[in-house]
Amino acid sequence: MMSDNFLNKKMSRREFLKKAGIGGAGLAIGASAASAFFTDKADKAHKTIEGKQEISFYGKHQSGITTPVQSNCYFMVLELTTAEKATVIQIFKDWTDYSHSLMSGKVVKEEGDNLYLPPNDTGEALELNPYRLTLTFGIAPSFLDKLGLEDKKLPEFKDLPAFPRDQLKENYTGGDIVIQACADDAQVAFHAVHNLVRKARSHVSMKWSQSGFLPLGDGKSTPRNLFGFKDGTVNPKKDEWDDFVWCNQTNWLKGGTYLIVRRVAMFLETWDRTSLGEQEKTFGRHRDSGAYLGQKDEFDEIDLEKKNEDGELAIPVDAHVRLAKEANQTILRRAFSYASGINEVTGQFDAGLLFICFQKDPVQFIDIQMKLGNEDKLNEYITHVGSGLFACFPGVKEGEYLGQSLFE
Ligand code: HEM
Repeated sequence: MMSDNFLNKKMSRREFLKKAGIGGAGLAIGASAASAFFTDKADKAHKTIEGKQEISFYGKHQSGITTPVQSNCYFMVLELTTAEKATVIQIFKDWTDYSHSLMSGKVVKEEGDNLYLPPNDTGEALELNPYRLTLTFGIAPSFLDKLGLEDKKLPEFKDLPAFPRDQLKENYTGGDIVIQACADDAQVAFHAVHNLVRKARSHVSMKWSQSGFLPLGDGKSTPRNLFGFKDGTVNPKKDEWDDFVWCNQTNWLKGGTYLIVRRVAMFLETWDRTSLGEQEKTFGRHRDSGAYLGQKDEFDEIDLEKKNEDGELAIPVDAHVRLAKEANQTILRRAFSYASGINEVTGQFDAGLLFICFQKDPVQFIDIQMKLGNEDKLNEYITHVGSGLFACFPGVKEGEYLGQSLFE
């Protein structure tokens, strides 16, 4: 791994431009009439979100798991095209160095003067601050098979079972390595993945990816999903993360966690034709307040026995939240919406939820999804088309590299 001295010598992306004589007043670029549109907007945005806040790459746990959620995600799953352990270790060392730079808002590597060589940093994030970029890395069980590390397989680390009603597509499944980049700027997140993949390009190929977004608004309300409902109200709190999120057995994954991703297509057109009452019964919550049916406030406790004036259960037996609750498991949900153009077959929106959750044991998710897959009223409006299970390494201490505990 590169020494800290080397890292410190790297310039922030803004400094890099100043040195090149075009940053400095950054805003000077906008003095011409042609670019006034962009500068005016940039000036305004600058006052509200500066994007200066950075999150440390180093720590006990990886970032992007319990980190407060950002407004954008670029999710990439890679296939390993080498079986050489030493090569993979070198990739992880390079990614460690790059990730530290990227999350600090620096160029991935100093540029030389040679105009005959491609630049070291791909450049699309020059002038951009870190925007709370987080990078989260994980591996699938197939990664261990490819590298002959079967002895490192933990009993719970095996492919997810088939769930009822799954309609998984080749385009959104498989792969050996995941990189989840989250940031408050879409291009910062993309730039990070772009440079990480580029660095490893001779030894990985891209299997599938998905970008996602989340409306953070004033940062005080729970974001709404594309069905218009507040999504993410119930989640474990900080003092529960050790119980539900972080692996704590004495093995290479101690301090890590399992990431499960599901690309869930949401049939917006069908939903849009559904009455509000039916929509609310589907989730078991009121749309506007976000409160459970029969309750007033978004954060009121669930009451599964509560009846409405007709003597029926306020939260129907097939409502999403009832079933999720009755599974009696806790997961940390960190999902993003996606909108990827038009579905070629149906001519409808190709939109939905990039459902991402973290747990110390995949069984926490499996128990919930088995119940939802069978009985959830929401199934009339959604289909799971993508899936993945990845073990996310523990956090990296300074002087160590990503995934080191696996290779020791
Ligand atoms: C497109 C797919 C999905 C949508 C639109 C969706 C939406 C929602 C909404 C609106 C809520 C209520 C607000 C909240 O507490 O966040 C909720 C709760 C929840 N969902 Fe989902 N969800 C989806 C898929 C899933 C999946 C795949 C799982 C896990 C297997 C899951 C697990 C949960 C859990 C555990 C809760 C909290 C239940 C409670 O205790 O009240 N959801 N979901």
